[in-house]
Amino acid sequence: MNEKTYFTHNLLTWYDPNDRPMPWKGETDPYLIWLSEIILQQTRVEQGLSYFIKFKKNYPTVFELAQAPEDQLMKDWEGLGYYSRARNLHTAAKYIVDELNGIFPNTHEDILKLKGVGTYTAAAIASFAYDLPYAVVDGNVYRVLSRFFGIDTPTDSNEGKKLIAKLAQEVLDEKNPGRFNQAIMDFGATVCKPKGAICKDCQLQDECVAFRDDRVGELPIKIKKIKKKKRFFHYLMIRRGTGYFIRKRVEKDIWKNLYEFPLLETETQMDSKKLLKQEGFSKFFSNQFYGIQKVSDSYVQQLTHRSIHAQFIEIEVENSFDANKMDWMCVEESELRKFAFPKIIDSYLNHKGSTLF
Ligand code: ADE
Repeated sequence: MNEKTYFTHNLLTWYDPNDRPMPWKGETDPYLIWLSEIILQQTRVEQGLSYFIKFKKNYPTVFELAQAPEDQLMKDWEGLGYYSRARNLHTAAKYIVDELNGIFPNTHEDILKLKGVGTYTAAAIASFAYDLPYAVVDGNVYRVLSRFFGIDTPTDSNEGKKLIAKLAQEVLDEKNPGRFNQAIMDFGATVCKPKGAICKDCQLQDECVAFRDDRVGELPIKIKKIKKKKRFFHYLMIRRGTGYFIRKRVEKDIWKNLYEFPLLETETQMDSKKLLKQEGFSKFFSNQFYGIQKVSDSYVQQLTHRSIHAQFIEIEVENSFDANKMDWMCVEESELRKFAFPKIIDSYLNHKGSTLF
C-alpha cells in the first residue's frame, strides 16, 4: 500500500465508528444539502446546526426561499455572520425558481454557476447529492494533507493551492466521494485540529510525516499572516419617549441590509463629548437639549480582516429631527428585536437586557 492508498483507507476506517450524526448527513435533497453547505461556510458545525434546522423549517423548498422577504431572511440569518451568504442564497434561489423551473442543477459545472457557490461548495454538493467524484478542498483539507504528506509549500500560495487540490483529488475515494469528503472534513475538525491535534490516538499516525518529524504545530505553512485593521464604530442610541432611531445599512460595506443606530466611524478611539460635536452626530439633535444617559465600554468583534471596536452612547432628546428625510425610523423599544442587527449591537442590547426589554 503506498502512502496515498494508506491515507484513503485509514481515513475511511477511522470514519466508520466516528461518523457524527448531523441533520444534513444522509440528506438526499440537493436543495437542503446546498442550504447546509452555505450555512457551514466559514462557520463551525456547532454554530451552524440550529440555523440549518430553522432554515429547513422556514424554507423547506427552494420556492419558499425564493419568495421570502429579504428582511425576514436577514432576520433568520442574524448572528451567523458573513451576511453576503444570505443575500447570495436568496439570489440563487430566485434564479433556480425563475430560470431552472425550481430544479436544482445536477452537474458540478452548473452548481458552480449559483451565486455564492465556489469550487469548495460545488464539490461538496456534487459529491453529497449526486456522488460525483469531486474532492473538497477547504482549510481542513489543507491542514490534514499538508501534515500527513509533509507539504512545505505555503497553502495560501497559488502553487500550494494547486498542489493540495491535485493531491485531494488523488486520494479521493471515487467509489464513495460523498463519504470520503465528509470524512476528511470531520477528521480535520475533530482530530487533526488547527491547535491541539489529537495525534496520540490518530489512526493515520504511522505514515504521517508531520507526526514523524514533530512538525504538527508548524504545518500548514502560510505566507501571509493576516494583519487586521481596526475600525472604530460609535453608535448613538437616541431615545425619544420609548423609541430609538434606527436605519438599514445600504452601503457597500460590512453588514449590508442589517439595521443600526446612527453611526460615526473614526480612525482612532475618540472621546464621547468630542464625538457629539461632530456634524455626523450633532445633526440629529441640532441645538435642542439632550442628556447623555450612558457611554458604554468598548465592545469588540473579530471579523476575518478587521476588528471592530464599538462604543454605544445613549442620549435622550425631547423632539424629533425630521426622521423620514434622513431615512431614519423611530422604533418602539418593544419592536426593536424584530430587526436584524450586527452581532456587536445585538451583544450590547443583550447586555442591557432586562433594563431595556
Ligand atoms: N463544513 C462545511 N461543510 C461541512 C459538512 N458537510 N460537514 C461538516 N463540516 C462542514
